[in-house]
Amino acid sequence: MNAHDVSASEPRRSNPPRDLFPYFRTLADVPGADVAGEFTWSEFFPLPQPIELDIGSGRGLFLYNSTVEQPETNFLGIEIDYKEGRRAARRLQKQQFPNGRVLGGDAKEFLRTRVPPQSVSRAHVYFPDPWWKRKHRKRRLFTDDFVELLSKVVMYGGEVHSWTDVEEYFGVISGLMNHHPDFEILPPRTPHAPAHDMDYLTSFHRRRTQDGASTYCGCWRRRSPSEVAPAI
Ligand SMILES: C[S@@+](CC[C@H](N)C(=O)[O-])C[C@H]1O[C@@H](n2cnc3c(N)ncnc32)[C@H](O)[C@@H]1O
Repeated sequence: MNAHDVSASEPRRSNPPRDLFPYFRTLADVPGADVAGEFTWSEFFPLPQPIELDIGSGRGLFLYNSTVEQPETNFLGIEIDYKEGRRAARRLQKQQFPNGRVLGGDAKEFLRTRVPPQSVSRAHVYFPDPWWKRKHRKRRLFTDDFVELLSKVVMYGGEVHSWTDVEEYFGVISGLMNHHPDFEILPPRTPHAPAHDMDYLTSFHRRRTQDGASTYCGCWRRRSPSEVAPAI
């Protein structure tokens, strides 16, 4: 069994405990779409700072380290598996950080129904589930629709970062991003030699690196409308 198969099971849903509020919330708590009210980022964050999303945040190592290292940026992890999302939120709650939060729910639904256009400065998608079996591929996060949603929410000049250990999936991600007119390829941030056990980008990065796997890294910049060549 590949390491990915462990978390690549069907999403597990359960009721979130309110004691983690406001560090962990679910889509059903967030106004917009079918919930009365209009969504703004002040729903999550007290300070109006740049927003970065960690899509499929898992246990939240990237979210936690980023929240600590960049207090001038607001970080939201989005995680469909509430158990993992709550675990990440618990670490943020212990430190009482105002700039780190977790949303339990489907990232695509959140991007589609809540996130205001061009309001995200960076979207991070690290080690998305590869869904190995061909018949399950449609469950992958990176699809044409997802890239359209990224194009909608990432601000002009903003960035999308994605890493994976699955070469074939990286080919799919690169193909979708490289050929989308709204994005241009940037030199990616690449892994450095870790100094200690927490010095990895994410938990999956640590696990797969320790297994000897390679990491494929991508970075793309959202073009502004004036840079996008009109289709002929
Ligand atoms: C392989 S894990 C990687 C977790 C973390 N990014 C890391 O690198 O350690 C992929 C994560 O994406 C989550 N996920 C999958 N589809 C999702 C979706 N549509 N919305 C939010 N999270 C999703 C899974 O529950 C899982 O925790």
